Amino acid sequence: MPERVLVTGGAGFVGSHIVVELARNGYQPVVLDDFSASTPAIRSRLEAVAGVAVPFITSDIRDVNALRAAFHDYPITAVIHCAGLKKVAESQSRPLGYYDVNVGGTLALAQVMGEAGVATLVYSSAASVYGDTGEVPVDETVAPCPSSVHGRTKLVVENFLRDLAQANANWRIGVLRGFNPSGAHSSGMMGEAPRGPATHLLPQLARVAAGEAADLVICGDDWDTPDGTCIRDYVHVQDLADAFVRALRHVASRHNGTLTVNLGSGAGHSVLEVVAEFERACGRPIPRVIGPRRPGDIARSCANPQQAAAKLDWRATRGLDAICADAWRWQRNGGRY
Ligand SMILES: NC(=O)c1ccc[n+]([C@@H]2O[C@H](COP(=O)([O-])OP(=O)(O)OC[C@H]3O[C@@H](n4cnc5c(N)ncnc54)[C@H](O)[C@@H]3O)[C@@H](O)[C@H]2O)c1
Repeated sequence: MPERVLVTGGAGFVGSHIVVELARNGYQPVVLDDFSASTPAIRSRLEAVAGVAVPFITSDIRDVNALRAAFHDYPITAVIHCAGLKKVAESQSRPLGYYDVNVGGTLALAQVMGEAGVATLVYSSAASVYGDTGEVPVDETVAPCPSSVHGRTKLVVENFLRDLAQANANWRIGVLRGFNPSGAHSSGMMGEAPRGPATHLLPQLARVAAGEAADLVICGDDWDTPDGTCIRDYVHVQDLADAFVRALRHVASRHNGTLTVNLGSGAGHSVLEVVAEFERACGRPIPRVIGPRRPGDIARSCANPQQAAAKLDWRATRGLDAICADAWRWQRNGGRY
């Protein structure tokens, strides 16, 4: 009997690719999402790519009664928790909303998991917990010092999950610090589909290349980096999804307590380098302007991926060229659900 895994935020960018990867590995995913940043229209694509039926539960993660119903209706044995708010700049002006959904949502989930006797959880944390540590690449032993509200909400959740596992040895928790999930499914059928203006670099590039947006706005060219633009560790979303399934298998079978792992390629690329690679992928120039720095941003962020290799036997297998080629293929197919 395949295991049922609840994927909160499973209609979103990261969650939907995890759903596909779970199905590919013989699990039966169930999606819970309120579609505040996604759309139920993704379901038919998701099922076509995953090759299985995927039940969808429409619910806010903070709704404990809806969560109870989900655990009652499906024999869920584990949860991958991706539901949350993720925009660093937006988080600076909406702290209440970000704490409410990211922290409050996780408290509600943990409460209901406890009631249901389900103790295996993989949490989609983020590189933003580190902040500007000055360490590049950064490994998991570096003390987090988030420089944004988003990062602080992620760190509060991480610490809560460690406290939970400390208090009760039944919990098996993976805390995965994703760096910059990017690209799209190689089928061209799934990808990042932000509502309204895109805030992440790859969808911004795709929309400019497709003529849907005028210029790429580069958020500052006076950072302390070789070309003055921010450096990030871009990791292909399918590689990231693979890591989540490995982490699920690892914590479920071999790990009590909390396992914290960075998920990045280990290589940093500046905004201008990504622009050049995207121009190669789409075969056209990207018009760009220099705008102001975004609140909460930092100059460099890059993972040391050794722990992921050692604990999960995982490494990023797709480079920036595949990230740009897949993001462009998705955009040419419409870039939306
Ligand atoms: N994309 C990134 O750059 C990145 C990097 C590291 C970590 N993460 C983390 O991974 C997770 C998923 O990111 P993503 O890029 O897929 O974002 P996303 O916005 O595409 O997906 C999040 C999903 O959660 C849903 N959601 C939001 N609030 C909800 C609520 N209250 N109840 C139920 N569902 C809700 C949204 O509708 C959406 O489908 C987030 O927690 C994010 O912080 C993202």
